[in-house]
Amino acid sequence: MHLIKFIALILISLSYTKSCCFPNEVEVTAMGYGLIAQGKTNYQRQIQLYYDADEEKIAIVGTNGIGQMVRIISDYSAKKRYVITNGTCNVTDLKEPFQKSCVPPSAVFMGSTVLGNTYDNMKVDNYRLNISQGPVSIESAFMIAPMKGGDCTMVGLVAFGKDQNGYQFSETSIYMNFSFEITDKSVFQPPKQCKEPENSGTLLFEVLGGFRRYGF
Ligand SMILES: *[C@@H]1O[C@H](CO)[C@@H](O)[C@H](O)[C@H]1NC(C)=O
Ligand SMILES: *[C@@H]1O[C@H](CO)[C@@H](O)[C@H](O)[C@H]1NC(C)=O
Ligand SMILES: *[C@@H]1O[C@H](CO)[C@@H](O)[C@H](O)[C@H]1NC(C)=O
Ligand SMILES: *[C@@H]1O[C@H](CO)[C@@H](O)[C@H](O)[C@H]1NC(C)=O
Repeated sequence: MHLIKFIALILISLSYTKSCCFPNEVEVTAMGYGLIAQGKTNYQRQIQLYYDADEEKIAIVGTNGIGQMVRIISDYSAKKRYVITNGTCNVTDLKEPFQKSCVPPSAVFMGSTVLGNTYDNMKVDNYRLNISQGPVSIESAFMIAPMKGGDCTMVGLVAFGKDQNGYQFSETSIYMNFSFEITDKSVFQPPKQCKEPENSGTLLFEVLGGFRRYGF
C-alpha cells in the first residue's frame, strides 16, 4: 500500500484551470518522507516522474515497499495503464481523460515567501488545498515556483490523509532537478511482456486512478 499512497501524494494532477500549470514536458525527481499511522511505519522514497502533456503520457519510476523496482506508465492517448513490477506487467484500461497538472482554482493562496539566502533566492507561492477522493480526504499545503511565461512547478508538498476507517498517513515531498525535456522517451514504452491483456488487480488500479486526478 505504501507505493499507492506515495504516488497519490506526489502526483497531484489537478484539474485544468486558468491558473498556472506545469510546462508540457517535465522530468523531475521527487523525494517523499512519509508516516503511516497503522503500524507506525515510516518510509522514504525517491521517484522519477516523467510528464508529457502533448503525448498525454505520464511515467513514474520508483521502488515499492519491498524494494522492487516499479514503473507505472499511464498512456492516456492509448487509454492504458501499465504497472511493471520486477519484470511482471499488469495492464488495465484507463478510463479517465488526461488532465494537465495545474494549481486548481479551489487551492487557497496563502501568500508568497522567499527561499534561500540572498545569493540565489527564489520566490515561491504557498497554497493550501483540501481534497477528497472516494473514502480518502487529504489536507495539503504546497509551494509553487512561478516560471517566466506563466508556467510553474511544484517545490514541495506536505499532506495529511485519512479515511473513515481510521487509516491515516502523512507525507512530505520535495521536488528537485527539474528538466523540461525528456531525453529518453522509451520510459513511456511498455516492455513486451505487457502485450497480453491481464485485467486482474482492478481494485488496485481503481484506487490509483482515483488518486491520480488529484496528484501531481
Ligand atoms: C524478481 O523476479 C525474479 C524472477 O521472476 C525472482 O527470482 C526474484 O525473486 C524477484 N525479485 C523480487 C525482489 O521479488
Ligand atoms: C482544510 O480542512 C481543515 C480541517 O477541517 C481546516 O482547518 C482548514 O481550514 C481547511 N483548509 C482549507 C484551505 O480549506
Ligand atoms: C540532482 O542534480 C545534481 C546536479 O546535477 C546531481 O548531482 C544529483 O545527483 C541529482 N540528484 C538526484 C536525486 O537525481
Ligand atoms: C498483477 O496482478 C496479479 C494477479 O491479480 C497480482 O497478484 C499482482 O500483485 C499484480 N501486480 C501488481 C504490480 O499490481
